[in-house]
Amino acid sequence: MRHFTNVHDLGNLQLALQEAFDIKADRYKYCELGKNKTLMMIFFNSSLRTRLSTQKAAMNLGMNVMVLDVNQGAWKLETERGVVMDGDKPEHLLEAIPVMSCYCDIIGVRSFARFENRRDDYEEKILNQFIQYSSRPVISMESATRHPLQSFADLITIEEYKKTDRPKVVMSWAPHPKSLPQAVPNSFAEWMNATDYEFVITHPKGYELDPAFVGNARVEYDQEKAFEGADFIYAKNWSAYNESDYGKVLSKDMSWTVDERKMKLTNNAYFMHCLPVRRNMIVTDDVIESENSLVIPEAANREISAQTVLKKILESL
Ligand code: CP
Repeated sequence: MRHFTNVHDLGNLQLALQEAFDIKADRYKYCELGKNKTLMMIFFNSSLRTRLSTQKAAMNLGMNVMVLDVNQGAWKLETERGVVMDGDKPEHLLEAIPVMSCYCDIIGVRSFARFENRRDDYEEKILNQFIQYSSRPVISMESATRHPLQSFADLITIEEYKKTDRPKVVMSWAPHPKSLPQAVPNSFAEWMNATDYEFVITHPKGYELDPAFVGNARVEYDQEKAFEGADFIYAKNWSAYNESDYGKVLSKDMSWTVDERKMKLTNNAYFMHCLPVRRNMIVTDDVIESENSLVIPEAANREISAQTVLKKILESL
């Protein structure tokens, strides 16, 4: 594997899952593989889980790790070619990327949607510049449109907890005070569509996702109907995708919060969320603290998804 930005980069998903479970059974089995290799993680945005789990995964493989917070201590970076650089950004990404790649073997990049315009975000301008100019394998640690390390961890978790071969998985929009990207729901949909699960997306009208990500999912505007018989509830907020409202908060309707009453409509479903989560907006305390909540096992599996991806890239260097 050269780069990791979406589900297709993994190749055969069943084999990748087997590899993940093999790593989970003995996460130090490949501790020599990354010897004298360096992972550089570049963060344009904040992180808790991605930073710690990816660093731990690299360390399990014997790698060295460097972390750069672009907004803390680095030169401010210009990202647009052709700009007269007379403002507050003294360095251009077009020099910074090849320079960073001199010091490492693999680059991880976190760069969220900027919501300036939909086309720039959906063209993945930052991530693709890293792929084009770094000469190193690039791992997405959440880009403008996808969060593949999260989705891989989500899939590992569903495989661990599912009680039937073909569980019903429901991704539900839930309210949030701020404008959030579509990367996590896009990516989750992409990965669910790569399985043979029954996959349903539920959200208020106006929150339709990019059809390229929705794929074969059933879209159900009635949240309670969507929850009926579900085996997994995956809650997430996202902002509007449609061109005229792109990046906007159209609703903070608290009737969409995942609560105990709605969970009772399900097939004793597990509750999932990628974290961080706004309690009593996205989900009530009772549900996230219940024995059916998988938010911590999901976060724990971030180490496993990252290690599987790093291992596959190291093996191809
Ligand atoms: N789920 C996730 O990516 O968490 P962080 O934003 O804390 O990395």
